[in-house]
Amino acid sequence: MADPVIQLDALRKYYVMGEFTIKALDDVSLSIDHGEYTAIMGPSGSGKSTLMHLIGCLDTPTEGKIFIDSDDTSQLTEEDLAYLRNAKIGFVFQQFNLLMKMTALDNVMTPLMYAGYHLRERRVIAEAALEQVGLSDRMKHRPNELSGGQKQRIAIARALVNNPSIILADEPTGALDTVTGEQIMDLFEEINQQGKTVIMVTHDPEVSTRCRRTINLRDGRIVEDL
Ligand SMILES: Nc1ncnc2c1ncn2[C@@H]1O[C@H](COP(=O)(O)OP(=O)(O)O)[C@@H](O)[C@H]1O
Ligand SMILES: [Mg+2]
Repeated sequence: MADPVIQLDALRKYYVMGEFTIKALDDVSLSIDHGEYTAIMGPSGSGKSTLMHLIGCLDTPTEGKIFIDSDDTSQLTEEDLAYLRNAKIGFVFQQFNLLMKMTALDNVMTPLMYAGYHLRERRVIAEAALEQVGLSDRMKHRPNELSGGQKQRIAIARALVNNPSIILADEPTGALDTVTGEQIMDLFEEINQQGKTVIMVTHDPEVSTRCRRTINLRDGRIVEDL
């Protein structure tokens, strides 16, 4: 039975640049069910990151609607949106986006602070998340003392720590070598098998074959959804 966690209805995102208008997304409608594992592909500039930002409620569309768990996000206040992002969505980026002065553990504890957990609980939950991604022995290290794959594992632990139902990953293996990239893909597969909806932007056809659904974008439009 269809059980959509994300519904996009005729989304458009336009950027007006002087006399030009860039149609980063141009009439995108899409439904993603709970537990799906979806790859977003397409050439550079086709609108992949824009789409991820909109799904993650980090940005608002020029036109169209985004429903998360049937909530029309255009009707939510900034405060509600911040809550939704923190509680339901975990982000993983190509360049990790870690806080470089903080240890792995502190990086992973940060979202829990915004969620209102006390220090002791934050530590217990963050340690468990780092353990899940195989980094128990690197908790006190800072990101620049770790490899690319280890940094991405911290970022994944941070994305998981609030137990979100949706994981959005924008080219998470783009800065990693092939072998490390495959290990990170194994981790995403495991996360999906635990019931989370995973949406991943990738350039790599190898990566997309591991996803059950592949959506191809071109010039801001869906040209294929297999
Ligand atoms: N903040 C912005 N201002 C103006 N144009 C933008 C902005 N963000 C993205 N774009 C443009 O929108 C299009 C889609 O960008 P993006 O979603 O980043 O593509 P992709 O992730 O597929 O490479 C591109 O033409 C890009 O230049
Ligand atoms: Mg991009």
